[in-house]
Amino acid sequence: MFPIHRPRRLRSHPQLRRMVCENLLTASDLIYPLFAVPGEGIAKEVKSMPGVYQLSVDKIVEDAKEVYDLGIPAIILFGIPDVKDGDATGAWHDCGIVQKATAAVKAAVPDLVVIVDTCLCEYTSHGHCGYLLSGDLTGRVLNDPTLELLKKTAVSQAAAGADIIAPSGMMDGFVGAIRAGLDEAGYQDVPILSYAAKYASAYYGPFRDAAESAPQFGDRRTYQMDPGNAREALKEIELDIAEGADMLMVKPALAYMDIIWRVKEATNLPVAAYNVSGEYSMVKAAALNGWIDEQRVVLETLTGFKRAGADLILTYHAKDAARWLQG
Ligand code: PBG
Ligand code: ZN
Repeated sequence: MFPIHRPRRLRSHPQLRRMVCENLLTASDLIYPLFAVPGEGIAKEVKSMPGVYQLSVDKIVEDAKEVYDLGIPAIILFGIPDVKDGDATGAWHDCGIVQKATAAVKAAVPDLVVIVDTCLCEYTSHGHCGYLLSGDLTGRVLNDPTLELLKKTAVSQAAAGADIIAPSGMMDGFVGAIRAGLDEAGYQDVPILSYAAKYASAYYGPFRDAAESAPQFGDRRTYQMDPGNAREALKEIELDIAEGADMLMVKPALAYMDIIWRVKEATNLPVAAYNVSGEYSMVKAAALNGWIDEQRVVLETLTGFKRAGADLILTYHAKDAARWLQG
């Protein structure tokens, strides 16, 4: 009891605070998302995400080098194809935009880990994450036929050189199907980072501007999780672990800190948190208005994810954060 105990003693000096710091954020915790578009010399800023660009492959390679030089170990690639159709052809085609970007980055920066988002919503004409019955206007994606497309997509991404496959569509059995597909094709050593607990979230709005992947009708609530549910997240991760997931993701991060914590407690696999587009845009908007100290808010938020149990953080702030951590 006070006055014997005085917790302020250990806060009295900067070096002492460093010594007793429980969670230290470093650049090696971060993963930087990039959006690839066809063409050359293109860097088109996403309106709702200041500082985030749709980039042609040559520009992606430049950014990848910068990311690597900042000590960030990995990027995650999303693609915006020329043409969208009902079969999501652009997702699994050998000459797809993400396949091209992956191969180019691996050729230029071989030591940078390339994670590829494995989903169909950027490639389907209706913007849903899988097959729909023709005439369906509710967005009730057909689960099992979609698994075949996801398998094909993952194999083509691995063939292009992807180091990690990250399925994000919340289809039942998608980790098992992709694991089987990768193994059959000889990619036993390519790990799967499953978007295991992904909620149907309004925070994805700006991403859908960036990836041009907003559903044309309906919503994603028949496959992404209800924000009110926590135990269901544990069920989802249990299934993904059984199906062979190597790493698990919780998404979004900020409104789901409790889920990050519970997942971390429930598993020994590495846990990733996705600091999603809407979380980024809110900080950017407030910072541009001069209402918050961007650097301190970002570093505090990212440290919070670590404290909650995240081993890895996907964030659009990654490059800035790495710079601030150096400085
Ligand atoms: C694709 C996908 C989405 C995000 C990552 N992968 C969008 C969605 O599910 O609608 C969102 C990422 C972000 O908001 O930053 N399924
Ligand atoms: Zn999707």
